[in-house]
Parts: sequence; structure tokens; C-alpha cells
Amino acid sequence: MIGRIDHIGIVCRDVDEAVEFYRATYGFELTHVEVIESQGVREAMLRVGATGDGAASYIQLLEPVRADSAVSAWLERHGPGVHHIAFGTDDVDAESERLKARGIRPIFDPPGTGSRGTKVTFLHPRDCLGVLTELVTLP
Ligand code: CO
Repeated sequence: MIGRIDHIGIVCRDVDEAVEFYRATYGFELTHVEVIESQGVREAMLRVGATGDGAASYIQLLEPVRADSAVSAWLERHGPGVHHIAFGTDDVDAESERLKARGIRPIFDPPGTGSRGTKVTFLHPRDCLGVLTELVTLP
């Protein structure tokens, strides 16, 4: 089942600059930076709230690192802004299958590896009222 919002994914031109904005403006703590080669992005995660448990919510900042990445194409078309919403689930495989049976197309089928050692898939925005939706299971 889906239990929480894991993160909001925001595409930006410069992750470092965006991190500084979220730290200075809202006081969010930078907890993780990673280049995800398979998706052609550099990611920074900022934790929202101070619980410190593994199930916090995050702002995920994404900067393309390759011109041929999907996020690069998205940035060219839309400019910086909100890119996707990610729901946390304890079993992304089961959740993906359940939604597939409802006619919602997963983009990674089966789910693949995300940042932080997570297991993820995305759901096609055309099947989700225009919202690119991610499902995340923590390691
Ligand atoms: Co994400």
C-alpha cells in the first residue's frame, strides 16, 4: 500500500544553486547527493522535517548531466519546475502490478534501482491525470 509522500521531484538547471535556495529559504537539510548515471541526472535530497527516520519526506532536486537524458529534454521544453511526485510504498513490485491491472502503465517494468538504494518505478502521466508519478520502496 501507499503510505506517504516520499518526495517531490523538481528539475533545475543547477543543483547547487537550488540546494542553497531551499536551505536559505526554508531551512531544509541536505541529506544526500548522487549522480544517477542510468537516468542522466545529478540529484540532491533535502529532508523536510526533523524526524531523521528513513521515512521522512524530501524535496528532490534534479539537474541533467547529459544532453540526451529525459530530464534534459524535459528542462528544454518546460524550464525549471515541478517534475514528478513520489509516493512511498513498502512493496513497489506489488503496487506496480496492482496498478497495471487497473490499466496504469509503469515506465520501469519491472521496477528498477533508484538513488539511495531504493527500488522505484514511474507511472505514465497520461494514465495519472497528467502527473508523472513515482513509486518508491526504501532499502
Ligand atoms: Co524521484
